[in-house]
Amino acid sequence: MPAEEILISQARIESRLPELAAEINEALPEGPVHVVMILKGAIVFGVDLARALGRNTTLGFLSASSYGAGMKSKGRVEIDARHLGEVEGRNVLLIDDILDTGHTFSKTIDILRDKRPASLRTCVLMDKPERREVDIHADHVGFAIENHFVVGYGLDCDEAYRTLPDIRIYAPE
Ligand code: PRP
Repeated sequence: MPAEEILISQARIESRLPELAAEINEALPEGPVHVVMILKGAIVFGVDLARALGRNTTLGFLSASSYGAGMKSKGRVEIDARHLGEVEGRNVLLIDDILDTGHTFSKTIDILRDKRPASLRTCVLMDKPERREVDIHADHVGFAIENHFVVGYGLDCDEAYRTLPDIRIYAPE
């Protein structure tokens, strides 16, 4: 199988989740939180993290599509916000699985800020800082990683591997 090498084990993910939740709870104002996940990659991590917060949470979703030559986003990102939910005046936590070039996260943050939340915190499971094309960071980062193509725990290759319990390096045979 082309995704055998485990980069981040299930045990490491499980022990990082409560640490991240504690960091975020400390940074967020008290009270309910609207948790926004970017489909589809953030779903697995986002639900686990939302539960680890142990707060009154509501869920919202954004869907991002990238356009341009080549496989990945070249800066043209279109966001579908039909399932975002109410943001104005609320404490919002934006969650994604991976921060790569930064185009998706940057566009998403702009859209959320335009809707005037009471506060906005951002969290990504993984950060690949060396790939960045936009000057942006996440407030909370699960793991900083090198420039590997990773799958599992929400991340896919052609829609496969999203439900693996750990994060693996994808290496085609
Ligand atoms: C991935 C990932 C991030 C985005 C990061 O989504 O989930 O949302 O790319 O890339 P960027 O920082 O270069 O913009 P993808 O387009 O693969 O969709 P998916 O989440 O549905 O797998």
